Amino acid sequence: DIDSAAIDSGAIDSRAIDRAAEVLRGGGLVAFPTETVYGLGANAADGAAVARVFQVKARPPSHPLIVHLGGAEHLDDWAAEVPAAARLLAERFWPGPLTLVLRRGRRVPLETTGGLETVAVRVPAHPVALALLEAFGGGIAAPSANRFGSVSPTTAGHVRAELGDAVDVVLDGGPCPVGVESTIVDAMGEVVSILRPGGVTREDLEAALGRPLAAPATSPVRVPGQHPSHYAPRAQVVLVEPEEVIAEAERVQESGHQVGVLLPPAFAGAEVKAHAVVALPASMAAYAQRLYAFLRELDQRGCDLIVASLPPEQGLGAAIANRLRRAAGPRPTA
Ligand code: TXA
Ligand code: MG
Repeated sequence: DIDSAAIDSGAIDSRAIDRAAEVLRGGGLVAFPTETVYGLGANAADGAAVARVFQVKARPPSHPLIVHLGGAEHLDDWAAEVPAAARLLAERFWPGPLTLVLRRGRRVPLETTGGLETVAVRVPAHPVALALLEAFGGGIAAPSANRFGSVSPTTAGHVRAELGDAVDVVLDGGPCPVGVESTIVDAMGEVVSILRPGGVTREDLEAALGRPLAAPATSPVRVPGQHPSHYAPRAQVVLVEPEEVIAEAERVQESGHQVGVLLPPAFAGAEVKAHAVVALPASMAAYAQRLYAFLRELDQRGCDLIVASLPPEQGLGAAIANRLRRAAGPRPTA
């Protein structure tokens, strides 16, 4: 059954952390908070433990996991080769929401990398994650702690709702402060490119490197598992221009749908004839932090269709737009 420990950054329950580290050593699964989303963790060096992660998530085994490390000093244990640009980015952004794809070190099991000769690594900026990594001592392979294809969890309550007692421990660190997943970059050469936009912005990466990033299409690396319909709530998501959100919402509500609306801040206070309306915060950081909780909330309120628009794609807006596009993407028909 689930062993829950309420933890906030002020008071880390070190007994709960030690117990969780013990569970990892025994090949078990621990859900834990990171600054981005909650992760479903297993000992990254234990292929059998990692296989359980895939089973619990119902995730295809070809979709590699991110290895979480306690500090950049462990990088060389996991990556066969760390180019100067990767080293610089690790120094500048870790702990933080940046994942580096590098050549796989020999000790990394192929279960963890989905059979690839590359490995994705990051150092999370969350006191509970860092305490767990320190107590455990090794790398923790962790995808987001949701069922395959659905919205990532940003609270311990979301994790329990999604995975129930399929996990051995859920560490509760409160709501994740960043709210969207890490930025994944191909850092195998001196030419760096973004494979998945996330919590570290393109602008910040370019400022750190002192040069523009390469266009993603130039990287031969693919990110398995970035299906069009990833990050999707139950409700169908429809994207329109910001100034069309209200009219479109009212039109589909009228046609018999239970419509949820992500109302752009420019229209705050407007009267919308829909089933449920979320007034979006004006700050992109606040929007990113709550994006997945908003989608979950609209599902919970019984919406079958969500009308939204893309935010401007600068800074964190790029990650939000990426997730909304995927949420609106074509789904396998049941
Ligand atoms: O913020 C995050 O990144 C969160 C927290 C828990 O750290 N994790 C996360 O994991 O989003 P997941 O499994 O939901 O997404 C990881 C992505 C997948 O799309 C996967 O294909 C990609 O990382 N990935 C992992 N290893 C890779 C590799 N070697 N090459 C290319 N892509 C890789
Ligand atoms: Mg995920």
